[in-house]
Amino acid sequence: MSIHISAKKGEIAPIVLMPGDPLRAKYIAGNFLQDAKLVSQTRNIFYYTGNYKGNPITIGASGMGCPSIGIYSYELYNEYDVDCIIRIGTCGAYTTDLKLFDLINVDRAFSESTYALHAFGYNNDHLYHEGKAYAVINDTAQEMNLNVQAAAIHSSDVFYRAEQSTPDIAATNNCVAVEMEAFALFANAKYLKKSAATLLTVSDIIPTHEQISAEEREKALLPMMELALESAGRL
Ligand code: HPA
Repeated sequence: MSIHISAKKGEIAPIVLMPGDPLRAKYIAGNFLQDAKLVSQTRNIFYYTGNYKGNPITIGASGMGCPSIGIYSYELYNEYDVDCIIRIGTCGAYTTDLKLFDLINVDRAFSESTYALHAFGYNNDHLYHEGKAYAVINDTAQEMNLNVQAAAIHSSDVFYRAEQSTPDIAATNNCVAVEMEAFALFANAKYLKKSAATLLTVSDIIPTHEQISAEEREKALLPMMELALESAGRL
C-alpha cells in the first residue's frame, strides 16, 4: 500500500496505462484485459491488473492536472517498482491543422506549472518523454498503420481562463495542443529514471469549438487504447 493506492506490492504490473478518468480505466480493463482484478479503489481512482495478449498490465487513472498525476505516478514508480507509465488522454487542439480523433505522441511538454521546480529543482519550462516507450509507440503505430504525430504540447494548469487567445508559452513554443498532465509525469520519470510517454487523442478544436460528442467519445478513443496496449506488450 502507498498513501493513495491500496494495492498490495506485487498487484501492480511493471507497465501501467493511465487515462485521466477512473471510468475509462474500468472500461479498458473490462473490454481488453483478461482476468482483470480491481487492485485499488482509494478515492474512486480505480486500478485494474490483468493480462493483454499474455502480458501483465495495470490500467489505472491519474485524475486531472499535474498535482494529481504527480501523486499517482510517483507512488507507482517509487513504491510499486513500475518501470513505465503510458498516459492515454485527450487534448484540445490550438490549431485547425489538427482534426478531431488525430493521435499525438508527445515529444515535449511545455508548462507554466511549478511542479518540476518545487519537486526536483528542474528549472525548465519544458520536459521530454522519458525512456523507450515513446519510440516503441511510434514503431507500433507504424506496424498498425495508425497515423500518429510527434509533437510538442502545452501541459496547462488552467482549463478556464479570461483570455481566449493561445497562451504565450504555447504560441512561442509551437505547442499544437493542450492537456494538463504530461509535464508532471515526465518530471517524475526523469527524477526516478523511469520510462514515461503520453499519447493523446484530439477531443476538441479550440479555435472552432468543434468537439467529439459524448456518444462518440468511447469509440473515438479505441485506436489510442489499442495502440497503448499493443505498445505495452513490446516494452
Ligand atoms: N484544455 C485542457 N485540457 C484539455 C482540453 C483543453 O481544452 N481538452 C482536452 N483536455
